Amino acid sequence: MAAKLLPIIIDCDPGHDDAMALVVAARHADLVGITTVSGNAPLDATTRNAIIMRDLLGLACPVHAGANRPLTRPAQHATYVHGKSGMDGGNLPEPSGPAASQDAVGFIIETCRAQEGIWLVPIGPMTNIALALRSAPDLAHRIAGISLMGGGRFGNRTAAAEFNLWCDPEAADVVFSYGGPLIMSGLDLTHQFQATPERIAMVRALSGGLAPMLADLFEFFSGTYRVRHRKIGGAPVHDPCAVMALTHPELFTRRLAHVQIETYGRLTAGMAIFDDRDLKEVSDPNCDVLTGIDADAAWQVLVESIAHFSH
Ligand code: BDR
Ligand code: CA
Repeated sequence: MAAKLLPIIIDCDPGHDDAMALVVAARHADLVGITTVSGNAPLDATTRNAIIMRDLLGLACPVHAGANRPLTRPAQHATYVHGKSGMDGGNLPEPSGPAASQDAVGFIIETCRAQEGIWLVPIGPMTNIALALRSAPDLAHRIAGISLMGGGRFGNRTAAAEFNLWCDPEAADVVFSYGGPLIMSGLDLTHQFQATPERIAMVRALSGGLAPMLADLFEFFSGTYRVRHRKIGGAPVHDPCAVMALTHPELFTRRLAHVQIETYGRLTAGMAIFDDRDLKEVSDPNCDVLTGIDADAAWQVLVESIAHFSH
């Protein structure tokens, strides 16, 4: 008998790599719902992109729009990586309709109360998840856990901070201190998983369905990384790591750590601080930090997922 698929809610800001995370989740998880947040692009654009991906993947799950700005800070976007639409470079169809609601937080709370054991997978700024955990503290023991993309041993939006945590450090702080199972895919992991030209060619070689459009999206995404970086093989494919951490845990190496989020620093706001001091006073680990990925095997999972929707 086939193993039961893990139920997940993806909270996202598509975003090229968010779109790829949705493809892997559609193939290998029980995607209960998609919620959207302001991040790579404004909320109306990320919601539109999420609905388009949901439609293209033939999923029945709802898309609920959430926070249009971080908890306390102004909205910031990543046009320099994802283009104005959030998913530039692909010839996207029109969405089939509007979002199911503008209340992503209410959807997360109601769904996790109605069905215990759901994994939350935030792959954008953590605003919606923080609001849900704050409004419904019982969620902390109703969910299976949180597998997130954010942070790392170095930054990308600033020298210290990764984009998702930098956008909304206060929300990230709530998530990292929520007290339940937490899996972190940070930049030092996701930069091991790059969309190189050879890997994009594997997607291009699939015929029909979603493959040509996804190959176009990969090319745009990798192009913006190559323009901005001195030396990089292709865009790090960040967000699918947070999904594969659940669906294909054997692809990763990991270590337990105590991780906190800086919310004040002039140069360090949004930084993930790893407390690696070997001292008894250091709090117990709160986080399963993914440290290594079998990138070729993970790419096979991604290609097989795309192939599944490419007939
Ligand atoms: C994260 O920021 C966004 O640009 C990506 O979608 C990913 O979630 C990487 O820093
Ligand atoms: Ca994202």
